[in-house]
Amino acid sequence: MKKKVLVAREVFDETLQYLAQHFEVASNQANAPHTAEELARKLAGFDGAIVMTGDRIDDAFLASCPTVKAVCSASVGYNHIDLAACTRHGVMATNTPGVLTDSVADFAICLTLATCRRLTEASAFLRTGQWQGTHLKEMLGMDLHHVSVGICGFGRIGQTIARRLQGFEAKILYTARNRVAPEIEQRLNARFAAKDDLLRESDIVILILPYVPQTHHYIGSRELGLMKRNAVLVNVARGGIVDDTALVEALKSRRIWAAGLDVYENEPNVNPGLYDLTNVVLSPHIASASEPTRQAMAMSAAKNCVAALRDGNPPNLLNPEVRQHGLRA
Ligand code: 8YV
Repeated sequence: MKKKVLVAREVFDETLQYLAQHFEVASNQANAPHTAEELARKLAGFDGAIVMTGDRIDDAFLASCPTVKAVCSASVGYNHIDLAACTRHGVMATNTPGVLTDSVADFAICLTLATCRRLTEASAFLRTGQWQGTHLKEMLGMDLHHVSVGICGFGRIGQTIARRLQGFEAKILYTARNRVAPEIEQRLNARFAAKDDLLRESDIVILILPYVPQTHHYIGSRELGLMKRNAVLVNVARGGIVDDTALVEALKSRRIWAAGLDVYENEPNVNPGLYDLTNVVLSPHIASASEPTRQAMAMSAAKNCVAALRDGNPPNLLNPEVRQHGLRA
């Protein structure tokens, strides 16, 4: 009998076709949002689940779907998955590293430029008929070229952003838990700095670090207070890394100049204070959302699922210790 896999949200036809070669597949092609309880109910009798970052996978969830042996997220970030809980329940958890690095780095540059050059504000200005013709002091913004850019988090995506920034001849600072090898610093023309020094020295701060308990409110009012008054903050990492309430205050009082945000605390809810501000560019968690990249993410999650349920050896296993613990039968 074929194993059964549930895809929690709408997915590409190609992904479904691939999965259908291996499993009996159910998919939420209507893309209906669900609570954890609803998802667990739908998973009754299923062996695997393809989930998204909005699906919280924890002890309670895993206990309520005892037949599920693999949870495969179509994302690189996995703060929504309690890995220790997965291991305790004998469930394999996987993510999709690599396939979205370039697209997220592209988007980090896109959001940085849009924020520096006030693109959404300028677009609204034009669309609402306020444009009276060009003059020198209209919609003045900040430059990206030749300024100091501080990158917080220097993994695959952070380093790719640094590579993109070479083209802007930016001075690149970075901070991370671990300093990278001197050859990488040299190649990327990037200087390591302690977090507070980076915040004090950078014109633009780009956040691309994982969300773990230690990075909760990594940027709060203290940190915003260290930044330059004309600084731009860009978050393409995770909501919760920035204290959104403190950020609203800092933007309102012009403690910093502007922000570009792709991610929020409590997604899909957005701190309403952000909507009232013109000096913030807001996008709905789309940093990886190019057509080819989202296709690749879905396919990577599907391949993880096939390998996990076939031989217990998915390429992007996040909790290899589950093997010692023992996989769910
Ligand atoms: C996804 C992301 O777009 O991969 C991640 O960690 O945050 C995004 O690339 C999104 O979360 C899809 O599940």
